[in-house]
Amino acid sequence: MRENPDYNDLYYQNTTVHSQIIDIVTARAVPLGEFPVPMEWEAFFGNPHPVEIEIGSGKGRFLLEASKRHPTVNYIGIERAQKYVVLTQERFEKHIRHFGVDRASGTFSNVRLAWTDANYFLTRYVPPASVQAYHIYFPDPWPKKRQRKRRIFRNQDFLSALTHTLKPNRGRLYIATDYEEYFQEIQERLADLSLLRPVEANCSPDQDIPTNFEMKYVLEGRNIYRSVYERCSS
Ligand SMILES: C[S@@+](CC[C@H](N)C(=O)[O-])C[C@H]1O[C@@H](n2cnc3c(N)ncnc32)[C@H](O)[C@@H]1O
Repeated sequence: MRENPDYNDLYYQNTTVHSQIIDIVTARAVPLGEFPVPMEWEAFFGNPHPVEIEIGSGKGRFLLEASKRHPTVNYIGIERAQKYVVLTQERFEKHIRHFGVDRASGTFSNVRLAWTDANYFLTRYVPPASVQAYHIYFPDPWPKKRQRKRRIFRNQDFLSALTHTLKPNRGRLYIATDYEEYFQEIQERLADLSLLRPVEANCSPDQDIPTNFEMKYVLEGRNIYRSVYERCSS
């Protein structure tokens, strides 16, 4: 495992050159490089509320519903594909217009979109022991054998950052996928991490908020596999 990822390497240069943080309400986009390393959540959100991060937030369905449901939780959706970042912004915009949401009311002031690579963001910008929950729903399964090395749960830097940035004792990791073989692999890989333990009753309080992929797969009659992990105290 690389102890200190090299942020000058080609992979990061290619995937993070456009990295931005987007404020959903104001549509203001700020280059990620302008933020401190690591970030200071209280200064970033302007409040001391807990932070939850969705990795691969796609078209933003979960992000919108969860942030509306929990106004005293701060949410960051990390998405590296620009088209999904734009679709997420449009989703929020439509919702704000349709429901006549007053932009000054504070609604959605608890959401930011990070247009960047999740591994880059977690290893560099997320402070240790600072995240209340990670949500990773329908991570790309890369089904072809030669592409499996791209699976995010195979990246040791990512797994290390994921566990160390969760809050000890209470920090949770929520996972869902339709891909049984990848689900088994994720469970095997997470079992190797001494800082994480599976939670027995493995349901999320927000399990009733389906992501876009989940809605599609449920309609197709596919099984959905879920698990929840908790960070141990040390
Ligand atoms: C299969 S889609 C699932 C989207 C959404 N979670 C859902 O369930 O509808 C996986 C998403 O993760 C994003 N993604 C994959 N790897 C990523 C990474 N390293 N950093 C940020 N986003 C990533 C992809 O661009 C894609 O939008």
